[in-house]
Amino acid sequence: MKVAILASGSGSNAQAIIECSKNGALHAKVVLVLSNKKDAPVLQKAANANIPAKFLDPKLYASREEYDRALLSEIAGSSAECVCLAGYMLLLSKQFLENYAGPVLNIHPSILPAFPGAHGIDDARSHGVKITGVTVHFVNEDMDMGPIIIQAALPLPDDADMDAYMKGIHAIEHRIYPQAIEWLSCNRLRVKGRQVTLIATGVPLAEIPKNLLIWPPLEKGF
Ligand code: GRF
Repeated sequence: MKVAILASGSGSNAQAIIECSKNGALHAKVVLVLSNKKDAPVLQKAANANIPAKFLDPKLYASREEYDRALLSEIAGSSAECVCLAGYMLLLSKQFLENYAGPVLNIHPSILPAFPGAHGIDDARSHGVKITGVTVHFVNEDMDMGPIIIQAALPLPDDADMDAYMKGIHAIEHRIYPQAIEWLSCNRLRVKGRQVTLIATGVPLAEIPKNLLIWPPLEKGF
């Protein structure tokens, strides 16, 4: 499965997906990385991995629809069969989602539907929740609200060092996003309404630390 990644920032998730695709853990190949930010480190990370990487400047387009048309044209040129949002800080337009034939995935740092939006971890912290985590989901028109593929829960202690906690969240993200992409690329996900069912194949499961709950469980290699 050919994958295009849209990202706005540091690109650690993009990097994890690229590494998994290069080391043979995925039946997927990253063929394009696009960013709306000129200096986003994700572009350099992709270039370092010899993956076509491009900045598309939103200021050069009259509307979000026009910008998304340019994105669609780049994605079509790469023949990507799936689009993965990895810290992409713009909302995709309705028109993008209607016109892109393949699935679009996103990763979000909370247990959705709690704490959608740009500040999932800070919002969870301010709310005083004791457990938060990460979700990978299909993208639909409602921000962070598409059908859920996989979630991981991580306790958030009152005295948590938030830099260390962020690192923990990222470490989980870098496992569950490639796993979700692998399930998709192997045609193991069935979507009916909001329910996403994973087709089991008896693949051995990964060892998961006891303070971390991930469902469906990760398979060996992730
Ligand atoms: C991640 O925390 C992801 O969940 C959120 O944006 C962040 C992107 O981080 N959507 P990175 O650019 O992949 O390091």
